[in-house]
Amino acid sequence: MRVLLADAFPAEHVSALTEHGHDCDYQPDTTTEQLPDRLTGREVLVVRSTAVPSAVIEAADSLRLVIRAGSGTNTIDCESAAERGVHVCNVPGRNAIAVAELAFALMLALDRSVCDNVDDLRAGRWDKKRYSRARGIHGRRVGVVGLGQIGLAFAERAAAFGATVHAVAKPGRSPKTAERADAIGIRFVDDLTTLARTCDVLSLHVPATSATRNLVDADLLAHVQPGTIILNTSRGELVDEDALIAAMEEKDVRAGIDVFTDEPATGTGHIGSRLARHPNVYGTHHIGASTEQAQHAVAAEVVRMVDAFESGSVLNC
Ligand code: MLT
Repeated sequence: MRVLLADAFPAEHVSALTEHGHDCDYQPDTTTEQLPDRLTGREVLVVRSTAVPSAVIEAADSLRLVIRAGSGTNTIDCESAAERGVHVCNVPGRNAIAVAELAFALMLALDRSVCDNVDDLRAGRWDKKRYSRARGIHGRRVGVVGLGQIGLAFAERAAAFGATVHAVAKPGRSPKTAERADAIGIRFVDDLTTLARTCDVLSLHVPATSATRNLVDADLLAHVQPGTIILNTSRGELVDEDALIAAMEEKDVRAGIDVFTDEPATGTGHIGSRLARHPNVYGTHHIGASTEQAQHAVAAEVVRMVDAFESGSVLNC
């Protein structure tokens, strides 16, 4: 297959594609604007951060498959792809542990005010008394919104730290999920409002869809306790940023945020989000999936998919 790798891809997996007979154009810093030119004659496009809007799909005459090297497809115009018979696949699950680890790191860092500690010390300030607000994770109630692979990996880690893990009961959970949830000892509540009202930490692990847009809004935040920690390593669209800022100011809610609604489409640039600058936010650069382990696992799956597509197998996307 003639493949354009438009984002960073581990070298050994670029080699694997070439060894498997694919013609790879490796252009890791491709912008959305550059895609139409670079897609000339290419049948497969592999992207991570670079957005693929309808204009790109319409201009790419040879394109047959777009693979998003990550869990969501929200940066790709899937409707336009479907209209033109272009398959769109993602690679869910392979980076679940990496994302769960980042959510966990943000939770621990917020609880211990790690970044503020570091800032003070770097400025030569010693102020032990200022940092007496940590509550600890052991014995806390941690609410997990979404029990997919990432939510379950986060829940397992929280339980291992002695937190009680809570989630919203969802009819139709797969037997495998139910089994894992039982092993973790997840306690189910009836609805998101109850979860928000009763938990010390709320961690979001659902995809961005029309149903989850602004899931964390002023109505929900009205129910959270002062000092609640909100974690979003999923998608910026899940949170109404203004409502979260208001809750941070009114009741000292704090937030660990890896994802924003206005992230630069190619992974570098200016971010205007007020949330990113707020002192109650520990923000990161959408790096949940950015571990070597996760990127290797995702890339290996991309190689398998390209091989499978070439041999005519149906990809379960
Ligand atoms: C994902 O969808 O898995 C991640 O958000 C990928 C990324 O880091 O862009």
